[in-house]
Amino acid sequence: MTGATAALILARCDELATHTVLPGGLIERVYLSAQHAAVNSLAARWMTEAGLSIWQDAAGNQCGRREGAVPGLPALLLGSHLDTVPSAGRYDGILGVLLAIAVADRIRASGRRLPFALEVVAFGDEEGTRFGTTLLGSRAFSGTWQPEWWNLSDADGVTVHEAFLAFGLDPDRVGEAARSTRDLVGYLEAHIEQGPVLDDADEPLGVVTSIAGARRFQITIEGAAGHSGTSWSLRRDALAGASEAILAIEDIARTANLIATVGHLQVFPDAVNVIAGRAEFSLDLRGESDAARDAVWDRIETALADICSRRQLDVHTVQTHVAPAAHCSAPLRAVLDRGIRSTRTAAAAPTDVPSLFSMAGHDAMAVAAVTDVAMLFVRCAGGVSHHPDESVTAADVAVALDALEAAVLALADGYATAGGSA
Ligand code: GLV
Ligand code: MN
Ligand code: MN
Repeated sequence: MTGATAALILARCDELATHTVLPGGLIERVYLSAQHAAVNSLAARWMTEAGLSIWQDAAGNQCGRREGAVPGLPALLLGSHLDTVPSAGRYDGILGVLLAIAVADRIRASGRRLPFALEVVAFGDEEGTRFGTTLLGSRAFSGTWQPEWWNLSDADGVTVHEAFLAFGLDPDRVGEAARSTRDLVGYLEAHIEQGPVLDDADEPLGVVTSIAGARRFQITIEGAAGHSGTSWSLRRDALAGASEAILAIEDIARTANLIATVGHLQVFPDAVNVIAGRAEFSLDLRGESDAARDAVWDRIETALADICSRRQLDVHTVQTHVAPAAHCSAPLRAVLDRGIRSTRTAAAAPTDVPSLFSMAGHDAMAVAAVTDVAMLFVRCAGGVSHHPDESVTAADVAVALDALEAAVLALADGYATAGGSA
C-alpha cells in the first residue's frame, strides 16, 4: 500500500518535471511563470482528490485544507515548494509537497478527524531563481513581505509587481497571504537532504536541528575596458580583480568553517581581445550562526576593498537577500523523531535517529517567523542536489510517507492530551 503511494509520488514528481521552460528534459520553473501556474493547477487537483478544499493565496502559493474535529480550528501546516533552480533535479521541494498531499489523503481515507485542521502548502518561490531574493512565497505567507521587493526585476526587466499582475494576482492584496500565529499549530516540512550525511550513515531519514542563516550579495568590480595589446602598467582589469576576490572569499570562508559560493559571474564587454572593464558576480554566504556569518562578510568586505585599491579598481556591493538562521522546535522535532522510530524494525529501534544541521535554505526559515517549524530530511543519492542527477529511492519515499503520517498522528495525540498546544 505504502509502496504504491510512493510509486504514485515519484510518478507525480516526473509529471511536474515536464512543466519546464528549458528544452531537452532539463528543468527550470520559476515564480509567477506559466509553468508555475501549470504546477499549481496539478497540485490543486491532487489536493482536491486528497479531500482538501483548495485556494491559491494572494502570493501565488497553492493551498489546501481539511477541517479538524470542528471547523475553524488552528491548522497544522505540511508543505514545501514547487519552484526550481535552473537545470534542477525533480525532488528539491517537490517531494515535500507531494508527501504532504499523500499524508492528507491517508488521513482522509482513514476518516479520522484531527484535533486541528490540516493544511498543505505548495510555496511558489523558495529558490529565488527569477528575482534574486529568495522565499518570496513563504515570506508573503508569514507576513514578512518587504515593499522594496516590488521593484526587483528578472533577467528580462519584468518587475515583481508586473509579474504579479501578469499572473492574475493583485499586488495591493499580498498582505492577504499572511497567516497569523493564533491560526497555526506548526509547520512540518519534508525535504531531500541535499547533503551526504544520511547516505553515508546508511539511514533513510533524519530530523533537522536548525537551518543556516544566509546572506546574498551582488558584487560589481569596475576597471577600464581597453585593447588587450596594452602594456601591464596601463591595465585596470576587472576580471583579474574579481578572480583574486573570489579566491580570497573562498579562503576567508574556509578558514572560518563557513560556506561561501560564487555561482554567477558576468564580464563586460566579454570579448577575447578586450580587457574586462566590469565584472559582476554573486555571493551566497551561509553559517550556523548569524554572528559568525556576519563576521565573515566583514572580512570579505575588507578584502574586496584591499584587492580593488591595490589594483586601482572600484567595488560596489548590494545585499540581495538576508535570512536569519532558524531553529527547529523541540516538540515538533520530537514528533518527527517518534514518526521515524515508528517505521523502524525492532532491531533498529534503539538506534538514535540522525539529527542534522541544514546548510540549504528552506521555506521553514520563513514560516518560522509565524509558527513553530521542524523538518524531516530524506536521503538523496550521494547528497547530489540542484542538479539533474538528484535522486531518491521509492523505498525511502515510502518510509518518509509512513514517518510523516505517524508524526502528524503523534502530534494529534499529544495535542489532544495537552488540551490544544503543540
Ligand atoms: C535553496 O535551495 C538554497 O539553499 O539556496
Ligand atoms: Mn533548492
Ligand atoms: Mn528546496
